[in-house]
Amino acid sequence: MSKEAKLELDGKSFTLPMVEGTEGERAVDIACLRNYTSCITLDDGYANTGSCLSKITFIDGEKGILRYRGIPIEELAEKSTFVETAYLIIYGHLPTRAELRQFSDLLTANANLHEDMKYHFEGFPSSAHPMAILSAMINASSCFDPGLMKMGNAGRFDLLAARLISQVRTIAAFSYRKSRGLPIIYPKSAYKYTANFLHMMFSEPYDDYEIKPEVVRALDLIFLLHADHEQNCSTATVRMVASSQANMFACAAAGVCALWGPLHGGANQAVVEMLEEIHREGDDGSKFITAAKDKVSGKRLMGFGHRVYKHYDPRAKIIKQACDSLLNVLQISDPLLDIAKKLEESALKDPYFVERKLYPNVDFYSGIIMRAIGIPMEMFPVIFAIGRMPGWIANYKEIAEDPKARIYRPRQIYVGPTLTHFMPLHKRK
Ligand code: CMC
Repeated sequence: MSKEAKLELDGKSFTLPMVEGTEGERAVDIACLRNYTSCITLDDGYANTGSCLSKITFIDGEKGILRYRGIPIEELAEKSTFVETAYLIIYGHLPTRAELRQFSDLLTANANLHEDMKYHFEGFPSSAHPMAILSAMINASSCFDPGLMKMGNAGRFDLLAARLISQVRTIAAFSYRKSRGLPIIYPKSAYKYTANFLHMMFSEPYDDYEIKPEVVRALDLIFLLHADHEQNCSTATVRMVASSQANMFACAAAGVCALWGPLHGGANQAVVEMLEEIHREGDDGSKFITAAKDKVSGKRLMGFGHRVYKHYDPRAKIIKQACDSLLNVLQISDPLLDIAKKLEESALKDPYFVERKLYPNVDFYSGIIMRAIGIPMEMFPVIFAIGRMPGWIANYKEIAEDPKARIYRPRQIYVGPTLTHFMPLHKRK
């Protein structure tokens, strides 16, 4: 394998170094290209651009492989928990018993928000989208600890990371309660991470929510499967903001905003909206599939397709199984699940989807699990954000600890007007 790439340009030859990852992925390092040639590379949507070296997550989209710190997602889904996986993603190794205990204790100790943050929740209209509240409140929580602006030593990082992972769940639950006009439910230290979230969402001051282990396990699995996914839109945003040395909370708040859109973290909500539309219209899915193939319709088969996976998303396989098993245990028969299965079956046989390598992604079945648990649709992207927090923090950490880290600053090819002079207002038509 060559260690260099040769570029011919304007009759001159340039040599560019090659970089190889531990899984054999190769890249041409073009960092010096502009110095050598005065040219930059252009890659709309960054589909072919590696923006960093990272040790966190490996994806092979052609083979449908996803690994966190080298461990296959299937093994983690079967044997781990969200909290343990969060530790793995952030610190690079599976925790020992003592490390896991310490991390869990730190999460429990930091679950509560500063009491004054309650007044901020009161300022939002009940119609506010919980993703708007989430990003605003993550940023607001940094105001209650000015020390958050500086990372400082490793102990400080541990505290901030735990606070963010723990409080994002409290903020999420409080924003749901607020949107329903319900009283806030404080976290209980007796509960573990995911059970505590369900308690804060669904308990009442006079009546504790019944925590079912199958429900806890299903939601924990959703968090775990979302915990990282290398340089997706929100994680790349977090790294972009982190590169300016903004604090961890500001980076996470930016990540939430990037995640909100329907092509990213909002897709799980869009999937259920699509399934409801199909159900309402009495369609068996075929009309929708026809519309999704027609670019003019503006419709897409939500929960299908992925920038990186050109094969079945390994997370979708796991979620589909979990969905079947939870609905079985809870004895729920959801017509949307039947529609989703029919849609999948038809799409996987349809040349349009086959040729474009469009397969179900993580969002295709996750919304049906959340519906079964009783989580309202507008909270679906929030659930994604809670799950993705360890990945954002690990990526923030990689930048913060890299002595060679530089501010992210892409270039562009300008295609606007050439030199034009200012026209005074009275002369403009
Ligand atoms: N339904 C119909 N056509 C599609 C779909 C879809 N879901 N996804 C892609 N296509 C078509 C697209 O129109 C294009 O066709 P053509 O080559 O004829 O122009 C071709 O497939 C390639 O699509 P693309 O938009 O260039 O692909 P992309 O890599 O830019 O976008 C995507 C990836 C995930 C945004 C896109 O597949 C999509 O919009 N899917 C639906 C939304 C969704 O489920 N998002 C969740 C992604 S997974 C969770 C996450 O990581 O956020």
